[in-house]
Amino acid sequence: ASAQRPEDVIQRYMEVVAGVQDEDCIICMDQLSNPSGYETQSTQEGGPSALPDTVGKFIKCGHTLHMRCMLAMYNNGTKDGSLQCPSCKTIYGEKTGAQPKGKMEIYSIAQSLPGHPDCGTIQIIYSIPPGLQGSEHPNPGQPYSCRGFPRFCFLPDNDKGRKVLELLKVAWMRRLIFTVGTSSTTGEPDTVVWNGVHHKTEMMSNMSGHGYPDPNYLDNVLSELASQGVTEDCFKPP
Ligand code: APR
Ligand code: ZN
Ligand code: ZN
Repeated sequence: ASAQRPEDVIQRYMEVVAGVQDEDCIICMDQLSNPSGYETQSTQEGGPSALPDTVGKFIKCGHTLHMRCMLAMYNNGTKDGSLQCPSCKTIYGEKTGAQPKGKMEIYSIAQSLPGHPDCGTIQIIYSIPPGLQGSEHPNPGQPYSCRGFPRFCFLPDNDKGRKVLELLKVAWMRRLIFTVGTSSTTGEPDTVVWNGVHHKTEMMSNMSGHGYPDPNYLDNVLSELASQGVTEDCFKPP
């Protein structure tokens, strides 16, 4: 999916809008009736510029913006063949992230979590070793560090907890659980950090605030997964 031309990705999920728009482009903040500030760069050496300087409309959510502004945003990201509407965050295609190589292991523990007395516990262990940043990271070629690994996480072993686990496995495969950046807890740059999908890292205590009991946790993590494009639809045939 990553070998496709950026222009083709844009045109798969946006259609050309004719007529002058009396609105601003959410990316460049200029009026849609003016041309995009971005030059279109061809991805093929010496090839023609495939994307017209026009206003585009997302096929599902209907938001409009300069197609070349969307192309510039896409080229700035991981170029994974997916687009996310900058207005409403609707995801087109399959969003993937910049999580470094590592391992996700799953175990079961007989003991119950506080707030979930009727079931045992699922333990997830994430291990990521240090390495060198790639082009998808903030400082390509520089090393990244890994603090607090292996990281131990806990879910109740009930229907909803097992559903969250299956979605976390999808998010892991799509490299969405961790990313490389600056830790907001320690301020350290170029390190592996959580990527917006909250995990419970304490089992029987709650000193960090990332422990149990937390009656809203499973619903919260389901909506965080959904905002990364990971929902139960991932298990349905296309
Ligand atoms: N457990 C789980 N999530 C946490 C924790 C924690 N102890 N501390 C912060 N988070 C959440 C934050 O709420 C935020 O949403 O992770 C997100 C990113 O925070 P950063 O501080 O940038 O993440 P990171 O440096 O990866 O982790 C901070 O989490 O698991 C621990 O050992 C890890 O101590 C480290 C801490
Ligand atoms: Zn624009
Ligand atoms: Zn939208």
